Amino acid sequence: MNIIVVKTEQEIGQKTGDLILNKVKENPKAVIGLATGSSPLSTYKYIIENSKKENVSWHDITTFNLDEYKGLSGIHNQSYRYFMTHNLFNHIDIQKENTFVPSGMIESDDEVKVYDEKIKNAGGIDIQLLGIGVNGHIGFNEPGTSFDSLTSVVDLTDQTIEANSRFFNDKSEVPTQAVSMGLKSIMNAKEIVLIAMGENKAKAIKELVTGEVSTDWPCTILQNHPKVTLIIDEKAASLLD
Ligand code: F6R
Repeated sequence: MNIIVVKTEQEIGQKTGDLILNKVKENPKAVIGLATGSSPLSTYKYIIENSKKENVSWHDITTFNLDEYKGLSGIHNQSYRYFMTHNLFNHIDIQKENTFVPSGMIESDDEVKVYDEKIKNAGGIDIQLLGIGVNGHIGFNEPGTSFDSLTSVVDLTDQTIEANSRFFNDKSEVPTQAVSMGLKSIMNAKEIVLIAMGENKAKAIKELVTGEVSTDWPCTILQNHPKVTLIIDEKAASLLD
């Protein structure tokens, strides 16, 4: 595992953005896995600025997002589809039909199973961007999730609902379920880059790097992946030796 510790959020965006932009430059048909939340914002800002500056085209790139809240449509301003549209897709030349975010508007839980097939048919994910929850979740795979899980409907823990209530008017508005790529779906990516900032992520980062591999801390599964880079700030790294 490659661990890069930086000082600022801006540097996280620059280092992570460069990793992703290099994939796009190397292979204009690359398949990129994306995340939402606060952590990737500086990365998306950097990607937008530098795609313009360096004339990097996303025209033939395909993207797959990790997750979506169950029950929110893509036009809801707290949906992850909306987040991606406004924080990235509207500002690069990607074709919207090549951007995949799991649908939160499903009628049966079985409908979500096609997502892993779609990823496979696209050739698999070349690089997957991840954030991390304070409880060690990646995607919305909460503690206790099987390491064999594929994309499915998942229950959010109270801790995650509480953490994400900052984006909603009220905690009661936060959906209690989501559709998330599974841990196996994530592990299938050829390369993974995980970003974290702030003291509240320090315990999860310590578990990720040195903890026993266990479903109690879903992030520990990444110890079994051959190509993982962590790009974290000093606060998130503060419990590492
Ligand atoms: C988002 C996702 C989540 C977040 C995590 C951290 O697509 O899958 O795992 O990465 O909850 O969120 P932030 O970055 O808001 O602290």
